[in-house]
Amino acid sequence: MKRVYLLLAIAWVIVSLVSCAPQPTPAAPQTPAPQPTPAKPSVENIRIVVIGKSVHPYWSNVELGVKAAARDLGLRGDQVIFFVPPTEDVAKQIEVMETYIAQKVTGIAVAPSDPAALEPVMKKAAEAGIIVTTLDTPPVENSVSLVYIGTDNYAAGRIAGEVMKELLPEGGKVGIGRGSDTALNALQRTQGFLDAIAGTKIQALEPVNDKEDAARALELANSVLSAHPDLAGAFGVYAYNGPAWATAIKEAGKAGKIKVVCFDATTDVINFIKEGVIHATIAQREYDMGYKSVQMIYLIATKGKDAAFAEMGVKNGVIDTGVDVVTAKNLKEYEASLDARGIPHEWTTQGWEPPSQ
Ligand code: BGC
Repeated sequence: MKRVYLLLAIAWVIVSLVSCAPQPTPAAPQTPAPQPTPAKPSVENIRIVVIGKSVHPYWSNVELGVKAAARDLGLRGDQVIFFVPPTEDVAKQIEVMETYIAQKVTGIAVAPSDPAALEPVMKKAAEAGIIVTTLDTPPVENSVSLVYIGTDNYAAGRIAGEVMKELLPEGGKVGIGRGSDTALNALQRTQGFLDAIAGTKIQALEPVNDKEDAARALELANSVLSAHPDLAGAFGVYAYNGPAWATAIKEAGKAGKIKVVCFDATTDVINFIKEGVIHATIAQREYDMGYKSVQMIYLIATKGKDAAFAEMGVKNGVIDTGVDVVTAKNLKEYEASLDARGIPHEWTTQGWEPPSQ
């Protein structure tokens, strides 16, 4: 575990150096009023919108964080809106942004499925005086997004690669399933993973893209398995990719033999860890992403950007929410850490014991 932390630290430093973290928009030279809010709205008029990427328990956890923040800040239910399209849908994200720009909401936090395609509408929102932030997946470089709240995805991908290296000391073929070829979180995780396994005997197959469609993810996992009967490992980049690999591997009778490393700690992932089909997951802190996105917009609206950034500890336009590496060995401690922080989860380790070695 110490090694993992060390690698995390190293990866973090590397990422900080090459970071494409969003920078606050420089004020236009002639503009008298600073961006993004020309006037502070009264608290009862604040409206905050959070736009995610797909219908999935991962995003339900984000929504729980959003709702908890609204409650803690004393905002009414209709003041904080959460939206996700059914599967990856860039056009829908743009359409929803347009709707809320027209309604002149206070702030929009968005997880851009395609950062280049979303930037123009994000810019339109910022120019209309709406506070724009991003969560879960970063925007383009020099975006109008004031802050990115989420995982350091490259570093997290590297950790996944390091874990896979430990699981496959002899190397072998590894399949990669992901839900986007445009979202930066998917691209950065993949790159981090590939960089970590470079120079080893692990051979990564071309990533397969299911566009955040869980049924398609399973089909793709099945076809990779049948095309490569010698598959040694599988990397699940998005929340349902781990369970997709695990389901396909179980059906093929190869549970435990093919090593699975994935992202997120939704109930299905945890159940597969308990069963020994998934070997490790990089658990994101998506509840915090939702909570902090609402808190951030609220603080910018009520206190101004500088005070809000200082209070929330924004560094270089980023709030890194962090990750936990979860395996059968530390699952009980992980659950205890969630309980200690008051983070809800449907699964429990009660009545379950980790395998003895
Ligand atoms: C990613 C999200 C994605 C979710 C479900 C998570 O790992 O961070 O961007 O929408 O998986 O696919």
